Amino acid sequence: MCGIVAAAAKREVSEILLEGLRRLEYRGYDSAGIALVDNDKNLQLHKALGRVAELESAQRQRPLLGCLGIAHTRWATHGVPSAANAHPHTAGNRFAVVHNGIIENHAVLRSDLEGRGIVFLSQTDTEVIVHLIDQLRPTCSDLLATVQQVVKKLEGAYAIAVIDSDEPETLVVARDGSPLVIGLGIGEMFAGSDTLALRSVTDTFIYLEDGDIGCLKAGSYEVFDSTGATIEREVSQLEPPKKDDLLGSYDHYMLKEIHEQPQRLRDTIPPGKPPSALDFGASAAEVFSRTKAVQIIACGTSYHAGLVAKYWIEAFAKIPCSVEVASELRYREPVVVDGTLIVSISQSGETADTLAAINHLGGQGLARLAVCNVDHSAIVRASELVFLTQAGAEIGVASTKAFTTQLAALMALTDQLAGITNKNDYHGIFASAMASAPAAVTAVLALEPKIKAMANHFVAKHHALFLGRGVFYPIAMEGALKLKEISYIHAEAYPAGELKHGPLALVDSDMPVVAVAPNNALLEKLRSNLEEVRARGGELFVFADEASGFESGPGVHVLAMPHCDELAAPIAYTVALQLLSYYVAVARGTDVDKPRNLAKSVTVE
Ligand code: G6P
Repeated sequence: MCGIVAAAAKREVSEILLEGLRRLEYRGYDSAGIALVDNDKNLQLHKALGRVAELESAQRQRPLLGCLGIAHTRWATHGVPSAANAHPHTAGNRFAVVHNGIIENHAVLRSDLEGRGIVFLSQTDTEVIVHLIDQLRPTCSDLLATVQQVVKKLEGAYAIAVIDSDEPETLVVARDGSPLVIGLGIGEMFAGSDTLALRSVTDTFIYLEDGDIGCLKAGSYEVFDSTGATIEREVSQLEPPKKDDLLGSYDHYMLKEIHEQPQRLRDTIPPGKPPSALDFGASAAEVFSRTKAVQIIACGTSYHAGLVAKYWIEAFAKIPCSVEVASELRYREPVVVDGTLIVSISQSGETADTLAAINHLGGQGLARLAVCNVDHSAIVRASELVFLTQAGAEIGVASTKAFTTQLAALMALTDQLAGITNKNDYHGIFASAMASAPAAVTAVLALEPKIKAMANHFVAKHHALFLGRGVFYPIAMEGALKLKEISYIHAEAYPAGELKHGPLALVDSDMPVVAVAPNNALLEKLRSNLEEVRARGGELFVFADEASGFESGPGVHVLAMPHCDELAAPIAYTVALQLLSYYVAVARGTDVDKPRNLAKSVTVE
């Protein structure tokens, strides 16, 4: 999704801005742009459809120089992906704005501005902001005062960075509903839509709150709240970035991230140290002891992790657990009983719908726990309790290691809740499952060549069906999501028992059916479902425990999975499905790490 980088310094900032954009590429985008104020107080601009590389080539041909600048990667919402719609948007050859979010009242503002003779150059909602700044600037003392007036007219969500060539030392930033951080340098200041964008220049950040406006100059910064009063926001010092965030010898970040999983699982649940209540927060033991129900909220892959947790929490903690996609829950009035623990699951911690759903339920005095991969993120800050997964920076848009570490974290949560309702009868089971998960994943990774060979059967297909039962139904859903995200093959998941209630009608020799078949209590039932597929000429791809008795034959491809702990099996089988999708996508020649139309961090609803 859109990304912002901005800088006010005493040195040239174009390379800092471009590096920031490169670091934001993982979020997904379709166009990019950069604006700088040069030493002669001229506003200079490059915009390009496509990748940041296009911008770099424009910069090589006509270098823009300046110590004050803003840059942006755009993920189209209003208006097609094009150079004209790319940010920054400008007015009066003087003001430039980059924006993340959606201005909901843009149509009214636009028609009012057009009525006053303003000519718009783009189809975006953003362009109204820069024209409003241009219109109001003569009535205000400076750029800061102008932005303070303009934001009062905006409805919706925004993070913006604004420059004015007449104030070549001032960068004004503002946020409401979309994330924005200030990066503090020594004698230079930065802003970005996430910290990752700025890690090449600083590890010191201020996370702006909704309604905040920042005024940055090379040697100083001030933050004002929505009333215009100066406000001190906490300064956070982050650990220096890890070297292993680099791609190394892998062809894609997704493959690197798949292979990292054993270590990331160990980082999340350190061997021999199953998490205690304290790992969820100081008040967690007390909150867990009065938890009567769990409401999980999440989007995308994180939602699938929540669905797995529902099976675990209800089976082991005997507490009712509901799971709902955040974009639905935020707009309805769910019945949430007293004593419900709200659990949000999010890799980025910035997903707009998840954040809104937490806030939607937050007014009811319920405890909130975030299972999240990014410390200090908006979702973490909106929650009293936090369990941080240790997946590290996830760059591939399709989530892999974030999902499996979420499962590990949710196992730890189930262990805590079960410890209260069942006096820890299950603690040993969870401890050994958590301890065995990294080795189980390593064993699956050893099957990579076989999974790669299996992937070749999917290259020319247009559709695929994924089947699972019990806790492996959400794993099948995650497998189908992975395949559609990166290979663009239409894939759907069904609980295997639902096969004959509809999807069986689709089964023929062109419809591969992927079955997740661990050796659990539901195996025999799944076996019958698969017979039904074979009887209709469907081609089966079965991921089955080596002891399950499944054998390859005509139309049946079996991948013998190493036997593993039953609770850790959802993690292990997920990794096999990740590899399948990865190799199908590679064989189809798609852009694996940046699949078309998708964004990593969905900061608008
Ligand atoms: C986007 C990403 C998915 C992710 C989802 C939820 O759609 O492409 O990979 O699962 O957002 O994101 P979150 O950061 O909240 O887990």
